Amino acid sequence: MTQTIVSERDGAVLTLRLNRPEKKNALTRDMYSRLATALQQADADASVHAIVLCGSAHCFTSGNDIVDFLEVPPTDMDSPVFCFMRSLLACRKPVVAAVAGAAVGIGTTLLLHCDLVYVAGDARLRMPFVNLGLSPEFGSSLLLPQRLGQARAAGLLLLGEGFSGEQAANWGLANAALEDGEAVLRQAHAAAHRLAALAPAAVQDSKRLMRAPGREQLQRVIEEESWLFIQRLKSPEAVAALSGFIHKAAP
Ligand code: COA
Repeated sequence: MTQTIVSERDGAVLTLRLNRPEKKNALTRDMYSRLATALQQADADASVHAIVLCGSAHCFTSGNDIVDFLEVPPTDMDSPVFCFMRSLLACRKPVVAAVAGAAVGIGTTLLLHCDLVYVAGDARLRMPFVNLGLSPEFGSSLLLPQRLGQARAAGLLLLGEGFSGEQAANWGLANAALEDGEAVLRQAHAAAHRLAALAPAAVQDSKRLMRAPGREQLQRVIEEESWLFIQRLKSPEAVAALSGFIHKAAP
């Protein structure tokens, strides 16, 4: 059976690769659970110093699986998607994201919680939550206005405007935009190996210090966003929009 999350070790670097190409790496409950477990194990394993989170050289992820959203939506904080995001937020090891092609919904949101982000210049990022009758998730309603300013964040979150990898790098959401997906994967792995060669405690203490300010506020916002999101998923607008995608209705 094909593994939808491919886990590979190279020295002290663990790579977690999303591998569901036929659905543009849409994330299912099972994939979230596997990612959560892999992150928790990596965090507890002293021989892992850095983690790379990537898709293929052509696609990062099309976001949450829309069939799952309709058929087995998250219902409480123990749902796999929340376990995954909690594990990412709690991870003491540095996480390096490699993004090419589409990064939709949670595929863009999760980048706010990675430590280094490399993108292909022509990557297509988008958070179409409101367009789908949903609301922002995992701290994006707090972090995007803080990092990009209210006006730009409103364009991305309220209008669901898409943006390129080039723009993400210019706005400081990514460390660098590179020529293509292969270059992104190479750069992300090179950065992870550089991190892995440093003193692990120094890296982890530094990560913790950088993330500490505002952490309690972030947790509160995430909690509020999560309950709202669960409610919004049941709304007639969201059900209609998500069903429309599945049945290939015109947007
Ligand atoms: N959930 C479930 N299936 C998805 C999916 C998702 N999030 N994204 C793509 N797919 C499926 C498509 O239904 C299609 O399946 P099929 O071949 O059985 O018909 C397949 O993946 C390929 O997708 P397609 O839309 O044909 O690829 P594309 O290259 O034209 O477009 C995207 C790629 C990512 C731009 C587009 O698929 C898309 O917008 N997906 C939905 C993104 C989204 O709204 N995510 C949720 C955010 S909260």
